[in-house]
Amino acid sequence: MWRKIFGGGKNASVLSERTDPSDFMLDRTSMPRHVAIVMDGNGRWAKAQGRSRSAGHEAGAHTLKRIVRAASDMGIEVLTVYAFSTENWKRPKIEVDFLLNLFDSFLTKEIAEMHAENVRISFIGRRDRFTDRFLRRMQEAEERTADNTGIHFNLAANYGSQDEILRAARTLAERAAAGEITAEEIDEEIFSHALDTAGDPPVDLFIRTSGDLRLSNFLLWQSAYAELYFTDTYWPDFTPEEFARAIEDFAGRSRRFGGLSAEG
Ligand code: FPP
Repeated sequence: MWRKIFGGGKNASVLSERTDPSDFMLDRTSMPRHVAIVMDGNGRWAKAQGRSRSAGHEAGAHTLKRIVRAASDMGIEVLTVYAFSTENWKRPKIEVDFLLNLFDSFLTKEIAEMHAENVRISFIGRRDRFTDRFLRRMQEAEERTADNTGIHFNLAANYGSQDEILRAARTLAERAAAGEITAEEIDEEIFSHALDTAGDPPVDLFIRTSGDLRLSNFLLWQSAYAELYFTDTYWPDFTPEEFARAIEDFAGRSRRFGGLSAEG
């Protein structure tokens, strides 16, 4: 499997020789269950190469494909990536249109392979503002892969965490008004189940590429106790090897969830 992830060719690293994730992972008991990624830096990557922003996004799509496969092969349960925020509509129309077409063709091209690899695809975020065609693509991808038992791959599109939390609060308020639940019954579990990521475990590892040190309204509730991993690498240059390094780094963190470590 690792040979498949890391590939061969002139840029093959020593990792390309590995055939089993357990060769690489130091501690399989400390694997994150849920990894979130802010895939930042497509534009800067393109600029640095004298290329168009579109070329940067295309390269970013290629990276995404490799990282989904790497995460799946490592046995990660959930991978959630930030593809398009509720604020990204402010970008020039030409870039927005390019991105939406790229998502569409990504789904069209990759769906069969992802399905064959047992990936379950979901979209999180608002469903308004998309074209009917794209909505159909999203729905087809979700329905076709719904029974898959491998990695759960969440694509955040037209997503903003504050918006998601507000939508959840409204849903619960409506249920309370309808007498289905009482206000007192609303606890963390019920609230989590009203979010777009209902059923997924909380985020363990939150990765952001390209050097900016912020969360940008991504999975704020779900990342309450996430370990953060920031790298200067632009997203198109982010490799499965660096992803594996982030996982390894995570395994070395001391997670206390507000309590004390075993040593006190
Ligand atoms: C941030 O880079 C990236 C985005 C806003 C879009 C993310 C899209 C991809 C990774 C393309 C592939 C995705 C799918 C689902 C096929 P930026 O444009 O903000 O970069 P910059 O900050 O350097 O300008």
